Amino acid sequence: MRKELKIGLFGFGCVGSGLYDVLNKSKLLNASIDKIVVKDPLKQRSLPEDQFYYDPNVILDDPEINVVVELIDDADAAFDIVTKAFKKGKHVVSANKKMIAEHLIELLTLKDEYGVSFLYEASSCASIPVIRNLEEYYNNDSLAGIEGICNGTTNYILTRLQNELKSFDEILKDAQDVGFAESDPTLDIDGFDSKYKLQILILHTFGLITQPEEVLNLGIRYIKQRDIQYAKEKGLRIKLVSFARRIDDKIVAYVAPQIVDDQNFAFEINYEFNGVSIEALFSDKQVFIGKGAGSHPTASAVLSDVSALQFDYKYEYKKFDECKAQMAKDAIVKVFVSTEQVDLLEKVDFIEVEEEFVAVDYAYKVGRLKLSQLSHTFYRENPELFISFYGDNDIELLSLREEFKESVTV
Ligand code: HSE
Repeated sequence: MRKELKIGLFGFGCVGSGLYDVLNKSKLLNASIDKIVVKDPLKQRSLPEDQFYYDPNVILDDPEINVVVELIDDADAAFDIVTKAFKKGKHVVSANKKMIAEHLIELLTLKDEYGVSFLYEASSCASIPVIRNLEEYYNNDSLAGIEGICNGTTNYILTRLQNELKSFDEILKDAQDVGFAESDPTLDIDGFDSKYKLQILILHTFGLITQPEEVLNLGIRYIKQRDIQYAKEKGLRIKLVSFARRIDDKIVAYVAPQIVDDQNFAFEINYEFNGVSIEALFSDKQVFIGKGAGSHPTASAVLSDVSALQFDYKYEYKKFDECKAQMAKDAIVKVFVSTEQVDLLEKVDFIEVEEEFVAVDYAYKVGRLKLSQLSHTFYRENPELFISFYGDNDIELLSLREEFKESVTV
């Protein structure tokens, strides 16, 4: 039996107004947007002014409203709204990946305490139905890994940098104009947005809750035309990849640019499209591709959550209850590191170097190093280094290397 849903909507930006459109176009739902709360009274909007409220309590205190849809971009304000909505017994749909990733434990505890449903399909890869698939379909098959292009803005920038001669800043401006980028685009280009999404995917893939500081995020801010040229000459492409793989009971996870060949799922995923590759023990690899940003694609995932609420759907977090995995601390990864400050490269602590190029004003090395090393302050203090993972993520754990095992047993 379909429940009647009365929605209180927070935010009427790119996704909020998109939800208004798609909900009105969809004849399937027994749901209506009863009230809309926004922050800025002066902003021009597509609906008459008298449709909007500015006080969150107008929704939170309305006993008729049984669903809060939170689509604002301020993560702290969103957390406040969502937790208050839980306490008022309202179900919540959110797309706020930063808020969710930063507060996973508190949110899951509170929504259980108040017996409400909390759905957030749009938070990771927008239109791609990845979270519900991980929850429901891949519930029984043991998952070995998940990797994805989870940020539309950076994929759009990288694709255009590879195909055109426009500058990074010009293309970023275009991404902002079409509504892909966050209001603070640092979140996109430094890999934070991809990391928040990865944390959510890790929870639904492996059942592990991670803190933002446990997952390395390297972005694309310092990519140079010569890095793109390097990849192009070899028939390769550079993509920003969110990656997590289970090796025994350890999870290796990071967000980083990755140089991939045409056999990699990410190679042909371009512009604002996102893609997710899920690797399971029995079904092997499966790839989902869809629009990862933008008004209607993101709103479609919100709509799908609203629709699921009509049937009292909740995520069950069964994998979380059974999870024994922990984050790996000793992974070794293959990377490409380049810089225009040639001396800097000597300070990067490679375990093995496979390829090297040095000119007066540009140098690079390809080799293996410890993943944990990349979190050191040296890399934050020397942003002129562009670091990209290389190839098909043939990750190793140092503790599983033969020479390490021998040295431990001697
Ligand atoms: N800024 C995000 C992106 C929006 O570019 O993917 C969708 O989450």
